[in-house]
Amino acid sequence: MPESLVTRAREILEQAHVPYSEYRVGAALRTVDGEVFVGCNIENANYSNSLHAEEVAVAEAIKNGHREFDRLAVTSGARDGVTPCGMCRQTLAEFCDEDLVVVCDEGGEETTEYTLGELLPNTISLDTLEAAEAKRE
Ligand code: THU
Ligand code: ZN
Repeated sequence: MPESLVTRAREILEQAHVPYSEYRVGAALRTVDGEVFVGCNIENANYSNSLHAEEVAVAEAIKNGHREFDRLAVTSGARDGVTPCGMCRQTLAEFCDEDLVVVCDEGGEETTEYTLGELLPNTISLDTLEAAEAKRE
């Protein structure tokens, strides 16, 4: 049986670089054809350059030529209600439909599932910019 997406997200926690927050986050993003790309947070001494786990997972998938995703798992390794932050929700919305399933690890076998549309309704997108351009013409 293939490892669950939450397990893949938990496994990458070990690679997180978190000397500042000491808060590890792992993410696993599944393509529509079942490949999985993982990411962890990578912090920086200037704080603002810190990469979030979801961003790293998206970058890994995109640079390998994938554009279609159906499921994302996120974990902090603790039962603390971790979900993708607002910035990561927007990053996901660039590539994923609103029906992307976001699985949040609640510890043990427990998870909470959301859709990206629930987490970020009415997102700005290429359509928004094209509609504005059409009005200007
Ligand atoms: N973090 C993520 O990796 N993903 C999120 O969406 C929430 C926050 C990281 C950033 C920082 O390294 C640590 O969690 C504390 O905010
Ligand atoms: Zn984030």
